[in-house]
Amino acid sequence: MHNPHQTTPQPPSSFMLPTATLKDPKTTLSIVLATSLFSLVLFLALSSSPLGPSPPPPPKPDPFLFPARQTHQIDFDGNGHADPPPPPSIAYLISGSSGDMGRIIRLLSATYHPRNRYLLHLDRFASQAERDRLAINVQSVPIFKAARNVDVIGKADFVYPKGSSSLSFTLHGASMLLRLASNWDWFISLNAGDYPLVTQDDLLHILSYLPKGLNFVSHSSYIGWRESKKLKPIIVDPGLYLSEKTAMFYASQKRELPNAYRIFTGSSFAILSRDFVEFCILGTDNLPRTLLMYFSNTPSALSNYFPTILCNSHQFKRTIINHSLRYANFDKPSKEEARRVISDDFDAMIQSGAAFAAKFPLNDPLLDRIDREILSRGRGDVVPGGWCLGEYRNNTCSVWGDADVLRPGTGAKRLEKLIVELLSNSSSASNRCMFE
Ligand SMILES: *[C@@H]1O[C@H](CO)[C@@H](O)[C@H](O)[C@H]1NC(C)=O
Ligand SMILES: *[C@@H]1O[C@H](CO)[C@@H](O)[C@H](O)[C@H]1NC(C)=O
Ligand SMILES: *[C@@H]1O[C@H](CO)[C@@H](O)[C@H](O)[C@H]1NC(C)=O
Repeated sequence: MHNPHQTTPQPPSSFMLPTATLKDPKTTLSIVLATSLFSLVLFLALSSSPLGPSPPPPPKPDPFLFPARQTHQIDFDGNGHADPPPPPSIAYLISGSSGDMGRIIRLLSATYHPRNRYLLHLDRFASQAERDRLAINVQSVPIFKAARNVDVIGKADFVYPKGSSSLSFTLHGASMLLRLASNWDWFISLNAGDYPLVTQDDLLHILSYLPKGLNFVSHSSYIGWRESKKLKPIIVDPGLYLSEKTAMFYASQKRELPNAYRIFTGSSFAILSRDFVEFCILGTDNLPRTLLMYFSNTPSALSNYFPTILCNSHQFKRTIINHSLRYANFDKPSKEEARRVISDDFDAMIQSGAAFAAKFPLNDPLLDRIDREILSRGRGDVVPGGWCLGEYRNNTCSVWGDADVLRPGTGAKRLEKLIVELLSNSSSASNRCMFE
């Protein structure tokens, strides 16, 4: 059990950071120059043109959560530790389909932290009534209102998991999150069948020690006959052009694999840096667009798109870590969909050190076990963290304080172990974007 007054957060002991993750200083300089030039131009344009009435500023989050001050705090019992780095912020896109409202709310509560940003989506297979209920439910939770960091997409997209509409939706969600908040550092897209295996305090604590440019994306360049069979067919995803549910359209012809770039296969789940998301959505390099066009007619576009861009980009290929930090069971390596987690998997799942796991059916008793033993989350409550000031085990988070105070627990230790191993494996460079 996790008594909040007994755990003392320690800085992770031994991160070996790959030096290569630093960006090319010349590129950075030219971006900085270009940005400052741009803001100068913008400033001149603004100061010389008459401005209309400015829109009212958006309402501010609760000052109890975000007190105005410069330094970051953490509730150390011990002393002698240097000030920890400020906690990062994660942008979550949480998506589900018809009947998934309850799962989305549960997943939101289990991954909630006032510093993060959340965008919820029920795809077009769900009814508008269910979408409205989701929004009303979110509105009724005091902490979501106080922190002003949960939004629901009103105009939903079609998402066919096997087609390219899931990719187009993910990019849509990421671009909305870029617009909604300027301060997040990583982007994570969760499905209703995913669940966290560490608290947000654990995750934010460990991420705060890592370079913000890292991308956690499992990938492989190995394309055997099975993969080749999956990549050669030409499909057309009905989600891109039809307004009702229809089967995927398969062309009778096949095409060769491209040779202008190298295809990497991966998983549909990834943890992407803000830099990289901006590169994909706002960047001036055409690689993300070219690949988007190519993948629009291939099956499993979402699992192959991000690894392929990362590994074909000089700027980003050194930022990739070959693990998505998600635990999933594929009975056969060729299987695309993870099988559901069963109770026999529980220990292996927790010991893997992963931050998330897939996949769980609605109201799986395993989720209750994770809530109880791992997250210390009461039914219907959000996952407790250092910002919760209420009585222990009595809806702890109904009283809140400074959101910068983290209280990491044993989950942070497990995650740290995995990340240290991954970083030392990837510092050898043979584990990143290798042509196998
Ligand atoms: C738990 O909270 C309720 C109100 O939310 C309060 O009446 C009760 O005294 C609290 N119990 C403890 C043990 O703090
Ligand atoms: C790191 O590399 C070793 C040897 O190649 C491998 O056995 C181990 O599974 C790798 N660890 C991770 C977390 O990928
Ligand atoms: C990434 O890890 C997977 C297994 O975890 C492995 O099959 C693959 O070859 C690795 N990719 C690279 C580029 O080393």
